Amino acid sequence: MKTTTQTIRKLKGERPIAMLTAYDFITAQLAGEAGADMILVGDSLGNTALGFDSTIPVTVDMMLHHCAAVARAKPNALLMCDVPFAVAGHSTDNLLDVCARMLQQAGAECVKIEGGVRRAEKCAAIARAGIPVMGHIGLKPQDVLQLGGYRKFGKTDGSRTALLDEAKAWEDAGAFSLLLEMVDEDAAGMITDAVSIPTIGIGAGPRVDGQVLVISDALGMNAGKYPGFAKKYVDLREIAVEALGRYVSEVRERKFPE
Ligand code: KIV
Repeated sequence: MKTTTQTIRKLKGERPIAMLTAYDFITAQLAGEAGADMILVGDSLGNTALGFDSTIPVTVDMMLHHCAAVARAKPNALLMCDVPFAVAGHSTDNLLDVCARMLQQAGAECVKIEGGVRRAEKCAAIARAGIPVMGHIGLKPQDVLQLGGYRKFGKTDGSRTALLDEAKAWEDAGAFSLLLEMVDEDAAGMITDAVSIPTIGIGAGPRVDGQVLVISDALGMNAGKYPGFAKKYVDLREIAVEALGRYVSEVRERKFPE
């Protein structure tokens, strides 16, 4: 059965929500067949699929291209497209236009926007226009140039209060859910109890309403380092390189084709 934003809202307090990223037709089929509740076409595709060092170079056109490929897999999971760098900092009209293109041209069913209180207030217009929004707080990777690196949020009283204000602002703006990235476990639990919308964590511990994992981390496809919070469920890279190595040898030894 097709998952909608209403399904996701109802899952809060019922059972944990499982979300995965996907970047193309094949990864969307894998995530869909695995039964994920939500599929995020994350701007992490800049790192995982396109080889950039951060999400900063990812453009709207890149997001639309990858989201459309994911949508062609027609997953039952709710399909979410990430709003990339700087777009939410432009005018509300421009943001509305980009989000509408994600739904109309790329098959997304909702969008995710990184930002704090001011961004959340601005996004009320997007939700009012009928576009379901997930707010993304805590570590916002699109702020990496300002932050100078990636770190945990919500460790001090001041930082917890700020996060709670941001979470409330997203809820008031009409967001249907909230992503907490690299948020201290206690702060994540406090926010989850304080809002009526589901919280999805990544590096935020277990006291949230659901989890999201980057699919290439879950499948062990990356060559480089993995984030400490990620869990590698299989080492697909090792399996794939070994299999492809056998193909290369068989061609050279004239064993393939038989
Ligand atoms: O782009 C992305 O993959 C994300 C993660 C936090 C899931 O936003």
